[in-house]
Amino acid sequence: MIPLSLARIAQITGGQLGHGDPDAVVSGEVVIDSRRAGPGGLFAAVAGERSDGHDFAAAAIAAGATAVLVTRPVPVPSVLVSDVPAALAALARSVVDALPAARIAGITGSSGKTSTKDLAAQLVERLGPTIAPAGSFNNEFGHPLTVLRAGAATRYLVLELSARGIGHIAYLCQVAPPRYGVVLNVGHAHAGEFGGLDQVARAKGELVEALPADGVAILNADDPRVLAMAARTGARVVTFGVEAGGALVRAADVRLDELGRPAFTLLTPEGSAPVTLRLHGAHNVPNALAAAALAGELGMDLDGIADGLGAAVARSRWRMEVHQRADGVTVINDAYNANPESVRAAIDALAHLAQGGRGFAVLGHMAELGGTSRASHEDIGEYAARIGDTGLAGLIAVGEEAAPLLDGARRVRSWTGEALAVPDGAAAADLLANRLKPSDVVLVKASRAAHLEGAAAALLGEAGQ
Ligand SMILES: Nc1ncnc2c1ncn2[C@@H]1O[C@H](COP(=O)(O)OP(=O)(O)OP(=O)(O)O)[C@@H](O)[C@H]1O
Ligand SMILES: [Mg+2]
Repeated sequence: MIPLSLARIAQITGGQLGHGDPDAVVSGEVVIDSRRAGPGGLFAAVAGERSDGHDFAAAAIAAGATAVLVTRPVPVPSVLVSDVPAALAALARSVVDALPAARIAGITGSSGKTSTKDLAAQLVERLGPTIAPAGSFNNEFGHPLTVLRAGAATRYLVLELSARGIGHIAYLCQVAPPRYGVVLNVGHAHAGEFGGLDQVARAKGELVEALPADGVAILNADDPRVLAMAARTGARVVTFGVEAGGALVRAADVRLDELGRPAFTLLTPEGSAPVTLRLHGAHNVPNALAAAALAGELGMDLDGIADGLGAAVARSRWRMEVHQRADGVTVINDAYNANPESVRAAIDALAHLAQGGRGFAVLGHMAELGGTSRASHEDIGEYAARIGDTGLAGLIAVGEEAAPLLDGARRVRSWTGEALAVPDGAAAADLLANRLKPSDVVLVKASRAAHLEGAAAALLGEAGQ
């Protein structure tokens, strides 16, 4: 954080100073969770559905925070503003403006933003001090909070940008104008709210529209909707792709080891290098190519990129975590979220890992698909029943909304696997307890709202999270 006095914070946000010394300085972290408030920090009070941050203003000050950012007066050092996200955005923008040498990259797409951001950050950190969000801090709160962590030493910001509607990414790009923009894919995540894939593409493409003429748009050549974004930017276009022969940064000879970890030959204009990822699932190959293309544009040489990709680990939890139980059962915890593309990717990985045994999928519902929800669930069920030679050995649908998965699977007449419905994750774990044998593989996946990570923990004999 670049130190700012309360008077300056009030000026930047157009706010009013409440109690407190105008010369008192915020030099610590800006947070919206009062439990994370610490010495010298700023606690931004947000009124949520369950609790109101204003109630924790005094606790944040007691924990050492210099002040709180509020929308109604509180009896502690504070800056009163009309809109907290807008105030955070203004503060973040002032930090960016104070760091003209810092290079900003934004990453968006329907699936894989966090995975790619984590890969890219682990490369770019080798070039110099880098700020990247923790986990999936990618919206009107997480984005400015991440940017506010930047300081005088920061050379790179690798940011994740999310959208639930038109204009969201354009807004985030104003908070921290990126010079580098990566678009991974256009898929069905939140497609219901957007009103279809063309609208999703319109929204994601706002990232490349925001790039300056001397910027770089890094586009997935395997996704036609992403490639078409080349026409929407004045920046130079760099393409990546697994399938697309013409992409500038490519992967050839992709293969997966027995745990689904990809190895491939990375092809770039500088030459080629072998890469073996520690991450699981073929879907991480395009993510790695995107990260490689970005790092290359930031000046990293091919050997550094290949080495960095091979060393990179999964930093954010519950995404394709592969755990092996002592009894020889493998559990894939991919419970962070789910949409049709990411569930297919996970079933592909499951089928690969289950080659020597049986594959079971514990699937909760995919949220926010709008009118296509039932059909999308049925299609995924059918996909699970057709995968590999025989389809999965068991499909366990968790919760009522996931039930259409089973209808889809039953459409496949030749499928001999089990279709089972359970009310919750605990019931799924109970049901599998007697069924699983050594060399079986279980995938656990659902939208965030389903909280299926508890089922994965139960399958692993852990207390739960
Ligand atoms: N390139 C990809 N294509 C399809 N699925 C992917 C891809 N990358 C990751 N996934 C899947 O999507 C899930 C979520 O990955 P990740 O958290 O990286 O995505 P995200 O775009 O950041 O999601 P969110 O919108 O929740 O922030 C992973 O568990 C994985 O199964
Ligand atoms: Mg994310």
